[in-house]
Formats: sequence, C-alpha cells, structure tokens
Amino acid sequence: MDSILVTGNGPLSGTIPIAGAKNACLTLMPATLLSEEPLTLTNAPRLSDIKTMSSLLQSFGAEVSSLNDGLVIAMSSHNLTNLSADYDLVRKMRASNLVLGPLLARSGEAVVSLPGGCAIGARPMDIHISALEALGAVIELKEGYLHARAPVNGLQGRRHKMRFASVGATENFLMAATLAKGASVLENAAREPEIVDLVSCLRKMGAHIQGEGTSTITIEGVDRLHGATHPVVCDRIELGTYMLIPAITGGEVDLVGGRLDLLTSFCEKLAAAGVEFDETDSGIRAKRTNADIKAVDVTTGVFPGFPTDLQAQMMALMCTAQGVCHLEETIFENRFMHAPELIRMGAQIEVRGGIAKVSGVSKLKGAPVMATDLRASVSLILAGLAAEGETILSRVYHLDRGYEKLEEKLQAIGAQVQRVPGI
Ligand code: EPZ
Repeated sequence: MDSILVTGNGPLSGTIPIAGAKNACLTLMPATLLSEEPLTLTNAPRLSDIKTMSSLLQSFGAEVSSLNDGLVIAMSSHNLTNLSADYDLVRKMRASNLVLGPLLARSGEAVVSLPGGCAIGARPMDIHISALEALGAVIELKEGYLHARAPVNGLQGRRHKMRFASVGATENFLMAATLAKGASVLENAAREPEIVDLVSCLRKMGAHIQGEGTSTITIEGVDRLHGATHPVVCDRIELGTYMLIPAITGGEVDLVGGRLDLLTSFCEKLAAAGVEFDETDSGIRAKRTNADIKAVDVTTGVFPGFPTDLQAQMMALMCTAQGVCHLEETIFENRFMHAPELIRMGAQIEVRGGIAKVSGVSKLKGAPVMATDLRASVSLILAGLAAEGETILSRVYHLDRGYEKLEEKLQAIGAQVQRVPGI
C-alpha cells in the first residue's frame, strides 16, 4: 500500500483546479440506468470511486467509457443483462446502493448487497427501504442482499416523509419516482447541492421535478426518459479542503472553478476563524487575514449546515488555532478517527461522545500517521503541511477515493509532498 510523505515548509501559494464533485458523479452515473439512451457526463472527477461505479454499471450490462483523460464518462444502458449488485463491489463503496432506485424503476427488480458498515458508522439502509416501499416496492433481506421488486404494473407515485434527510435515500427516491405512475412528493428531503445537480440532469433527461434544494420535492412520473449530456457540479468538499490550506500554512490560493454558494455555513466559520476569501473571474481566492487563526465552535448538520465531510479538515485547522473550541459531529456516530492521529502530531484533543474539545497548540510536529477514512486522511495531510518536520501517511488508498491528483495539486502551490510506493 502506498504512503504519502509531507514535509511542512511554510506558506503555500498558487492555483489549484477544483474537480467535479465525487458525491454528485456517484449519483449521476446510476441515472443512466433510467434510460435506454446514452447519458454523458462532463467535468467528471478522476477518482477510484468513479472507476468502482463504472465497474458496477458494467456488471449490469451497461456500456461505460472514460474519455478525455477521464473528464468525460459516456454511458449507455440500452441492454441490461444483470440486475444484481455484487457484495464485492458494494462493500468497497456504499454509494453502490444508489443503483437500487434506478434499477427498480427501469426493470422492476433489483438485488443489491447491503453495503455493510464502514469506518465512520453502521450506515444502515432503513430510510432508503422505507422510501422505495412508499412507491410500492417490496424489499426483503436475504443473506445480506436486498431483494427488491416493483408491483407488476410498476412503481406508484406517493407522498412520503423521511425520518431523516438522508442524501442517498433522497437520491434513490427521486430517481425511482421519475418513472413511477403519477405524482410523488418527498418530504424532509435532503437539500445538498449534489441533489440539485442530480435533478438538473434528470430534468434534461425529461423528468418532471420541482423543489430541489428545499425539503419538499415533487416528481410527476413519466413513461420514459431520454439521453442527455450534463456537466458535474464542482466538488464543494474538495474546494473547502483546499480553502483550509492558506488558513493552516499561510499564503494565498486561487481555486479555479470553486463556488462560494455551495459552502455558506463552512465559509461563515472560516471567516470567523480569520480566513478571507472572495469570488474571482475563475473561482475563489482564499488567504489568512492575519497571523493567527481563532478557535471557533462547529456543529455539523445536514445542508445548509456545516458539512460533516469537512469536519475532520476543520479539526486540523483548529489544532493550530488560538484558543479552545468544540467540534460536534451530529451526522455520523464514529467520525473522529482522525483525532488520535492528530494527537500523535502534538494536537490537544479530548473526544467525549459526539463532541471533540480542541485546544490549539503553536506548532504540530510531523509523525507517522494512518489514514482511516477519506476525509480523516486529508485532514492529516493538512496537518502535515503545517507541521514541523516530516509526516508519513499510510493507507493512502482512502485518499485516492476522493481527491483527484492530490500530490500534483499540492506540489503546484509549493508543498513538499510525494507518494512513496508501497510494498
Ligand atoms: C452521502 O452519504 C455522502 N456520500 C457522504 O460523503 C456524506 O458524508 C453524507 O451524504 C452526509 O452528507 C455520497 O454522496 C456518495 P446519508 P449517504 O444517507 O447518502 C444515516 C464522503 O466523505 N442513515 O445522508 O450515505 C447514516 O448512517 C462521504 O464523501 C440511516 O440511518 O449519507 C448517517 O448517520 C462520506 N439510514 C446519516 O443517516 C439510512 O437508510 C447520514 O447518511 C441512511 C442513512
């Protein structure tokens, strides 16, 4: 397994291109299953998770081609020959569960392995199941697989209120409801920008949907959807991660393609901590307002709250801030695994339940640390950029799932970062 060696070397400045959003692309790709006509995505991120999703779609008989160095994904689901998502693929990536709704809507049945837990939590599927059952699906769990079947005359539009604004369950419901008979209303829907992007694509394919970005979304089912070409929205989590670089090391970065409207709560906290940023013709410019970063309290929440996917990265910054703050994680039950690794670098963090108390220190010290999940990994990279000495991060396959060309992008702003091939 590869490792990444980071050597802290002061302020970093330069330009970083922001890629298309992993979490948008992973729901846009299964949308191809809804139509017999080609669906092409542009501005796609070059990530291992995208390759995993491509393999999963190909296992159903879909054609998936990666063009233009991976920036374009051309898909066609004209002939589906298999309706079962295998455990080996699903356990690698939970987002595989996003084929459930489209397969049910298109073919009337689906067999999808339960993803199993992951490092950050149990990740159950009950909200997905309730949402699809509301449309008439019958779903049974057999030997670790969800066996789903639509009524003989197809899914039926219904009103359904989710117990929690689950992103993935919203996406599964929306995709299934586009081809259901009649109208559906989803209440307590998730409002993330990736859902807005999915609806934008589905609308291009002929879906009749209103209300995306709010808690109530209405869908008027249609008989069929046609093909489309759609650009993947920029990755707000990659953007937020890189906005933290000048905050933690000093310097100034230009983030090409970034959009501030996707990160309002995060930007409020960053401004309070002492980071300034503004929109430029090409994206976002970010830099530290003055020498010190102030400690700020953060509580994660569903959009438009502070994104849970930026909690680990914010913790890295708070480890070097002036003062004490509390980071509360309300979305996942085990998303502080970066804390013990940051402590190895000299951070002062006390975790009690869902709250981490962080007391800022003047300088972190480089150390060997281990990646445990995607966002925890990149928080350790951020800490390494600001630390004295060398940090070696092992198990970097976690990073490759969600950060495109990470070393290249960091080297371009002067960071001393290199990949050490594993044995
Ligand atoms: C999406 O996961 C993202 N992944 C996650 O990003 C992100 O952290 C999460 O939304 C929250 O914003 C993708 O979009 C591919 P949820 P998802 O359903 O859809 C519980 C990253 O780092 N829950 O909103 O799986 C669940 O256990 C990843 O890029 C149920 O209890 O998130 C969690 O505690 C990590 N039952 C909470 O809800 C269910 O049926 C939020 O989950 C579904 C979810």
